[in-house]
Amino acid sequence: MNAPASGSSLRSVIIGTGSALPARVVTNAELAEQVDTTDEWIVERTGIRQRYIAGEGETTGTLATAAARAALQAAGVEAGTIDLIVLATATPDQTFPATATTVQHALGCHGGIAFDVAAVCSGFLYALGVADSMLRSGMARRALVIGSETFSRILDWEDRTTCVLFGDGAGAVVLDAQPDEGAQGRGILATRLHADGTHNCLLYVDGGPSTTGTVGKVRMQGREVFRHAVTNLAGVLAEVMADVDLPAEAIDWLVPHQANARILDATARKLSLPAEKVIVTVDRHANTSAASVPLALDTAVRDGRIKPGQLVMLEAMGGGFTWGASLVRM
Ligand code: ACO
Repeated sequence: MNAPASGSSLRSVIIGTGSALPARVVTNAELAEQVDTTDEWIVERTGIRQRYIAGEGETTGTLATAAARAALQAAGVEAGTIDLIVLATATPDQTFPATATTVQHALGCHGGIAFDVAAVCSGFLYALGVADSMLRSGMARRALVIGSETFSRILDWEDRTTCVLFGDGAGAVVLDAQPDEGAQGRGILATRLHADGTHNCLLYVDGGPSTTGTVGKVRMQGREVFRHAVTNLAGVLAEVMADVDLPAEAIDWLVPHQANARILDATARKLSLPAEKVIVTVDRHANTSAASVPLALDTAVRDGRIKPGQLVMLEAMGGGFTWGASLVRM
């Protein structure tokens, strides 16, 4: 996984993006009626103004399926041509089976590979890395890579230090194995992934099938997470740029994990990227964990900012800690 794609005969090309959000929007003002917080505090510390919260019947699986359908439509390909589904989530519909198989069934494609990846907020980067490796090795030809979450279901709604930060949603891309046309050709150019379990006590869920037998709630030491996020992200971004031997100025767009506007600013500064090159959706979506990067990517593709041929850096950091980055020619 931790290797540039150059030299391979196949390249994984993003041929379509899609996303889905729950129907219900919850503003900071509405949250301030439930917990001891204010719109001013949330906006100043995080940049978040609202989030989408899943209602009855809206699950990680239904959101993922809607995002996948939108990505398939954008790509102009049939669900039946998909032979790999990798779904990143920390909030699966059930402990098992994998939500990816639920999506596979809902899309009406059968017999290909389908599984979930758990790397929390970095989940989409991990899923993209796994799918890219499988496509380049010839194990599959066309993949759906999805990040989907219903974090609202694992939030402690009495803990103001966490419940204001997260939202629900899904994003997806269709990846197609195509001949490698070098650095100027479309596709995933390089990916780097990392994990360090030393710090898993700083961001975790206090439950699980083999420990408490319950689902549990999110617990986080936000200030510590923030500190590690900026350092780790700067490191992995430098690794990816070294892999492709390109200067940071070559990047057209940075699509970061949408955790906190201050983390986005700090990361862009480390890359010396101007704020205009950073896709920001945290104000509308809050932190949607594994969904945040593909949701932000799809938003910017659909509003016309991200165009074919442009160089896009995707990055994320999350519980574990896990972190990673991927450079893609769209
Ligand atoms: N409303 C009002 N006051 C609050 C709230 C709230 N919602 N939450 C905390 N406070 C209070 C605290 O109790 C504290 O009060 P005190 O000084 O009287 O003790 C004060 O605000 C400052 O708290 P800090 O935690 O020090 O605030 P900080 O500036 O670090 O901001 C935040 C907190 C927003 C969580 C920040 O640390 C952060 O974004 N960290 C990154 C965490 C994150 O994004 N995690 C997601 C997954 S990992 C990832 O995606 C990178």
